[in-house]
Amino acid sequence: MKKNTKLYETAAALLERGKGILAADESDATAGKRLAMVHLPNEPENRQDFREILFTASDIENYLSGVIMYDSSIKNNTDDGIPFADVLTAKGIVPGIKVDLGARELEGFKGEVVTQGLDNLAERFAEYYDLGARFAKWRMVVTIDESETPTDESIRINSIMLARYAQIAQAAGIVPIVEPEVIHAGDHSLQRAEMVTTRTLQILFQTLIEFKVDLAGLILKSSMVLAGDVHAEQTTPEEVANATLRTFHMSVPHECAGIVFLSGGQTPERSTKNLNAIAKMGEQPWPITFSFSRALEEPVLKAWGGKPENADKAKAALLERCKANSEASLGKA
Ligand code: G3H
Repeated sequence: MKKNTKLYETAAALLERGKGILAADESDATAGKRLAMVHLPNEPENRQDFREILFTASDIENYLSGVIMYDSSIKNNTDDGIPFADVLTAKGIVPGIKVDLGARELEGFKGEVVTQGLDNLAERFAEYYDLGARFAKWRMVVTIDESETPTDESIRINSIMLARYAQIAQAAGIVPIVEPEVIHAGDHSLQRAEMVTTRTLQILFQTLIEFKVDLAGLILKSSMVLAGDVHAEQTTPEEVANATLRTFHMSVPHECAGIVFLSGGQTPERSTKNLNAIAKMGEQPWPITFSFSRALEEPVLKAWGGKPENADKAKAALLERCKANSEASLGKA
């Protein structure tokens, strides 16, 4: 396999110690759900204003190595007409792009879904590269229920999609983040979450290897391993740390450039505490850090509330969460 050192440089920049990635990559529809939290209509101006607050906050570059954007935001500008991607690049933050087009029903497999978005992906990557993107994200959804879900078949087909996406990304000079999200919502136990996450990651990495994806130029974005959000027995940070690291040691090859976490609907404080507990377990074969969306954005939205006079307060809220998670990634929160 031809080595692409540019990919390794980008991956190393994204995984710089003490920094993490902001996932501001909501589709327009999901951005609407965020805005609804503060009773704002899902209009392009509101989405732009919110993203401008996020991307122009002072000093975030001390704690953020990358920001994942969505098609409509990587093509958008600040009020002064500066492209968002250029604002980030000027701060030394690597712009990224979510390229999957969401999930659709997997016929024959009740409740399971398969992620779409491979059509014209090479052309889309060429356009995103020109706009400044140097890494990308594709998410697969894994839902746990009582008995049969997830099936190996749904994990396998989604893993093949992820492998194809990762091949095309690497050929375009873009570092792929592969994100198998094991959904936190539900009544499953910690043990079941661990079993499902381990199986998912084993199938995913086996598939990536079969399809000759260069793992040294790829980042895993994983869920933390914990019981479902309505399960009677909730998981402590120490239990999350043990189960999550056990899972990774059973399934993630050491060549993988690094691992970042999604927050998955945990509160901002809980996400930070769990990350801190994981980091406290000491050095691992891979750099490990955060790539949160809701856990970073929700406090910002609340501080902003759609009011221009609150913009500075909102930027301060982002900086505060980024700093807390930076410290947590070092086990110092
Ligand atoms: O795909 C999901 C995002 O990249 C992470 O979102 O931190 O809100 O789970 P989250």
